[in-house]
Amino acid sequence: MSNFFMNTYHRLPVTFAKGEGSWLYDIDGKKYLDFTSGIAVNLLGHNYPPLVRAVSEQAAKYLHVCNYYQSDASDAFAEKLVEACAPAGMKNVFLANSGAEANEGACKLARKYSLLKYGPGRHTIVTLQGSFHGRTITTLAATGQEKFHRDFGPFTEGFIHIQGGDISALESVLDSKSVAGLLIEAVQGESGIIPQSQEFIAAASKLCAERDILLMFDEIQCGLGRTGTFLALEQYQDFLGNPLKADIVTLAKGLAGGIPIGAVLAGEKTCGVFGIGDHGSTFGGNPVAAAAGLVVLKTVNTNEFLQEIKRKGDLLTAAIKQLPNVREVRGRGLMIGFDIENNAWPVLEAGIARADLGREQCGLLMLSAGNNTLRLLPPYVLTDSEIEQGVAIISELLNKTVNNS
Ligand SMILES: Cc1ncc(COP(=O)(O)O)c(C=O)c1O
Repeated sequence: MSNFFMNTYHRLPVTFAKGEGSWLYDIDGKKYLDFTSGIAVNLLGHNYPPLVRAVSEQAAKYLHVCNYYQSDASDAFAEKLVEACAPAGMKNVFLANSGAEANEGACKLARKYSLLKYGPGRHTIVTLQGSFHGRTITTLAATGQEKFHRDFGPFTEGFIHIQGGDISALESVLDSKSVAGLLIEAVQGESGIIPQSQEFIAAASKLCAERDILLMFDEIQCGLGRTGTFLALEQYQDFLGNPLKADIVTLAKGLAGGIPIGAVLAGEKTCGVFGIGDHGSTFGGNPVAAAAGLVVLKTVNTNEFLQEIKRKGDLLTAAIKQLPNVREVRGRGLMIGFDIENNAWPVLEAGIARADLGREQCGLLMLSAGNNTLRLLPPYVLTDSEIEQGVAIISELLNKTVNNS
């Protein structure tokens, strides 16, 4: 393992050399079924031909122009992205490079909206316990998990976390004199795949509308078709029973299928708030990322493709529910978390160690979320037979690790 990196990741003992569809191959040629998509990034699997082609073609034309000029690739992508998010009320977009940067931009946008309309002091952003919004000093402040806060204070002020689902806590914290926005993951990822309830989201939409507090959705992990709709928030209704609309939506991770990108989308209230010089990013909207993003949007955002994600997700969820040693299975579409009797990490390690050339045996890549939860975020190109194969391996790994404990 390389000693040249800072020690920030618990790196597993495997070095990848190439990928194809739902499969990754290490430098020795061992094969791994990828149920992680690089944490919800490689939505279309590895080496997806139209994506590779679009990136290569754009790279051959021009890699980058600064945002003082226009780019045909970035313009086409922005138009398609706003169109894809229009059902959620989105009108325009700022392009960035990562999820944390998108959420930073969203907080700035919410604060400026509030400042322009109500003056100073109304800048608090409410988020949920168990949420994950990024690793910068501001997005850590937004993240409602103590374990990420150790050692790094003081944080940006003006963030409050409440328990998801607790409508009376929401009602008392959403003070119209001090709160600018409410930031929610419709399905929390990092904390173990926790969907918010319809009642909670409807109450949030009512309270935010009444108090002119911005309703903001972090769709960085749960968006982009992952749960079977383009945005996860589309599966909710507002307090009047209408399709839910947001004031701000953030996206990143899989938006360019494996190339860094982030996006802050703004609705009716916020689309005119930023003026020239208010925000910027050297690489934001980079033409190569935009060309890749256009392929992702064109491929994923069709009814047939989204229905397939849901169908595959239902198949995988139903199969995992049948496995012994599985306690609870949660999720939507191909965003699945399941609690097991013992620690998740040894199961994840055993999934990698299982790869064996001599026995012609593949490994399985999974993610954990907390001590006892395994998290699956497979690529959308996963086939039914790969689902079967993966479930058989999970069953074998659970049997082995439970019997050894
Ligand atoms: C919901 C959510 N928001 C924000 C982030 C931060 O994204 P990035 O790592 O690209 O900064 C993540 C990353 O896991 C996430 O899952």
